[in-house]
Amino acid sequence: MGFVDDKDLGTDLAKVLIPEDRLRAKVGELAAQIDADYEGKDLLLVGVLKGAVMIMADLARELHAPASMDWMAVSSYGSGTKSSGVVRILKDLDTDILGRHVLIVEDIIDSGLTLSWLVSNLRMRDPASLEICALLRKPEAVKTEIDCRYLGFDIPNEFVVGYGLDYDEKYRNLPFVGTLAPHVYGGDGA
Ligand code: XMP
Ligand code: MG
Repeated sequence: MGFVDDKDLGTDLAKVLIPEDRLRAKVGELAAQIDADYEGKDLLLVGVLKGAVMIMADLARELHAPASMDWMAVSSYGSGTKSSGVVRILKDLDTDILGRHVLIVEDIIDSGLTLSWLVSNLRMRDPASLEICALLRKPEAVKTEIDCRYLGFDIPNEFVVGYGLDYDEKYRNLPFVGTLAPHVYGGDGA
């Protein structure tokens, strides 16, 4: 917990849910699966800003095969902790994905609404293939089933921060995933 103390976040975090070494090991496993599945294919990683920045950076470096990287920014949350269900594109891809093997890299599947929207949006652009890699998933929160080929961890239905995930743009730079103390976001998850 040295990092927490160093950053003076000691009272904001309830606990460390996934420590750094488990994240690193899991990202390595996912990279090995992806390497095997995409052997000989021209892979395009599409990271969803900003939450996927950490997993994208770590995953890309673990891959042996060359992979291109592009980014999309979408918004489904305001500054709160619940999905509005309304998705807006804040930044579109720079790349034309027609005929490409696209792997969406996402931080978390919560309700699934964001990814479900993103998958339909990207599918209309006719990629050769379209799969999802998500670091985290909250099975109890799922409102729409998402076919996620590469999954890091199923986690409880609690608001998490760190390793790219934020609350109100804070805590993204924590090297682990932790749960936020309820007093930070109002106590009832609202
Ligand atoms: P949905 O509900 O559409 O949510 O699957 C997807 C996006 O919402 C953000 N999200 C979170 N961010 N802690 C966070 O810091 C969480 O527990 C959490 N749950 C959802 C995230 O950006 C995700 O892509
Ligand atoms: Mg996200």
